[in-house]
Amino acid sequence: MRRDAAAFVGRGVVLDAGAGSGDLAAACAGAGASRVVCLDRSPEMFRVARAKLASYERAGRVRFVLGDVARMPFRDGAFDNVGSAFLFRNIPAMDAALGEVRRVLKAGGRVAAADVFAPPKGLTGAVYRIYLNVMVPFWGRLIARAGPPYRYLSASIQNCFSAEEFAGRLAAAGFADIRAEPKFFGIAYVVKGRSP
Ligand SMILES: C[S@@+](CC[C@H](N)C(=O)[O-])C[C@H]1O[C@@H](n2cnc3c(N)ncnc32)[C@H](O)[C@@H]1O
Repeated sequence: MRRDAAAFVGRGVVLDAGAGSGDLAAACAGAGASRVVCLDRSPEMFRVARAKLASYERAGRVRFVLGDVARMPFRDGAFDNVGSAFLFRNIPAMDAALGEVRRVLKAGGRVAAADVFAPPKGLTGAVYRIYLNVMVPFWGRLIARAGPPYRYLSASIQNCFSAEEFAGRLAAAGFADIRAEPKFFGIAYVVKGRSP
């Protein structure tokens, strides 16, 4: 999924919004981005990312910026493309963050968001719900010896908005050419769009 998103946005100067431990940034740098700016509010995540991306940082191709995606410390049109992975589902100020993505993106720039959304309708969704409600808490108890956090994870995925709803929020934020591409039978999506 991150590789797919990176293949779409990994050109020119790229923002990895909610970069965390830097996997999408690494994929974008590997895909040919001239520079990747990692934005995250967590210094702890950056400690992991810095170790992973040390050679790119030494070469001046990766930079780390602490900040909030809903109030980005960048000028208008600062980025050729913007990517994110597993960010928007957990952001209460999602519309503000999408507005900021649009602001810092050049005209014609691409956006890609890889994430897990609410289970799809139909048989795949029914099987996925059983997996979330039964197997995820079971594995959580067995392997991590912690059932409640895994039950919370399952509930948060099921209570989340769908990929189509997220695509609608992107449209409302002013993006064009939006498409939600399903991965793993619709359990996850890479949602792509363009700044008009
Ligand atoms: C689930 S992690 C995903 C990290 C990474 N993108 C990946 O693919 O592994 C979500 C990340 O978003 C960051 N984050 C959440 N809300 C944020 C916000 N409002 N501003 C900046 N970063 C945020 C968290 O600190 C965390 O590193």
